[in-house]
Amino acid sequence: MRIGFWFNAAATAACMAGAASIAQAQNFPSKPVTMLIPFAAGGPTDVVGRLVGEHMGCTLGQPVIIENAVGAAGTLAGQRLMGSPADGHVILIGHTGTHAAAVSLNPNLKYRPVEDFAPVGLVNINPIFLTVRKTHPSGTLAEFVTWVKANEKAASNAHAGVGSVSHTTCLLFNTVLGVKPNGVPYRGTGPAMNDLVAGQVDYLCDQAVNVAPQHRAGTIKTLAVASTARATALPDVPTSTEGGVPDFKVEVWNAMFAPKDTPAPAVAKLNQALKAALADATVKAKLNELGAEIPSAELQEPAGLRSFVGAEIERWAPIIKASGVKVE
Ligand code: MLT
Repeated sequence: MRIGFWFNAAATAACMAGAASIAQAQNFPSKPVTMLIPFAAGGPTDVVGRLVGEHMGCTLGQPVIIENAVGAAGTLAGQRLMGSPADGHVILIGHTGTHAAAVSLNPNLKYRPVEDFAPVGLVNINPIFLTVRKTHPSGTLAEFVTWVKANEKAASNAHAGVGSVSHTTCLLFNTVLGVKPNGVPYRGTGPAMNDLVAGQVDYLCDQAVNVAPQHRAGTIKTLAVASTARATALPDVPTSTEGGVPDFKVEVWNAMFAPKDTPAPAVAKLNQALKAALADATVKAKLNELGAEIPSAELQEPAGLRSFVGAEIERWAPIIKASGVKVE
């Protein structure tokens, strides 16, 4: 499994560097902190959560325990956080899907991403890649566009559930092309990628964490990155504009939240620990290697994240509306 030795190495280095046990001075945290990950182990959200969480544990002086709280395209984890004690000992890594697109997609969403949580900070911003199975007849984005338009009824588009980022980002692609392929939902893009590699599904929109190792091993074909510039993690992959679909432009983010009424000093400590992780050279290098960007200093702050999430909810509303998709 990808969650290999470097997490331990990063954590050990961080702890040895004496990542300033801010816990010594005050009561929080008084026990291990549980980090809820809304998707399956081994996928992008999980990998980033484990990397950052391990370093945060060093700073906080208490381990951060990962719990994959999977279901309903990641929104069950949000519900779980709402019902958790508001003392900072349970936190969550949400993303573009669970904390922005879900608002327009899911009329039964049980939480309001801005009002119902205490934002801790934005964690990372990730490029999105369009990938196809290795045996797919298309070798370029232009060829794939022709293929999917001619074969939309047979085409299978894997994703991590309606409202996940693998779903919403491919939804943007499909809407731009005017195609409605068969969606194939998984519990995360870890398992979805496994099936793409096995040739069970045709295509998947996913993050570099999953895509880069498979792309380098030649087990899938990566047709485009949906960004304005090529991704540093996979510079041989053309942009969507180079491939002839300039309107397929989208990036996704991960962000950390605590329960709504978490006391300000606990949120501040979590935020400090998050920022320490994002400033750590080993963590930074690993995130960059995974294709992720570190957010601006402003977005790493709770207030910055709060307005960012509000803006993202607005940004996704017309995209979801144009797609005509709703969670039943
Ligand atoms: C998604 O597609 O929303 C997630 O990135 C899936 C995952 O993290 O496994």
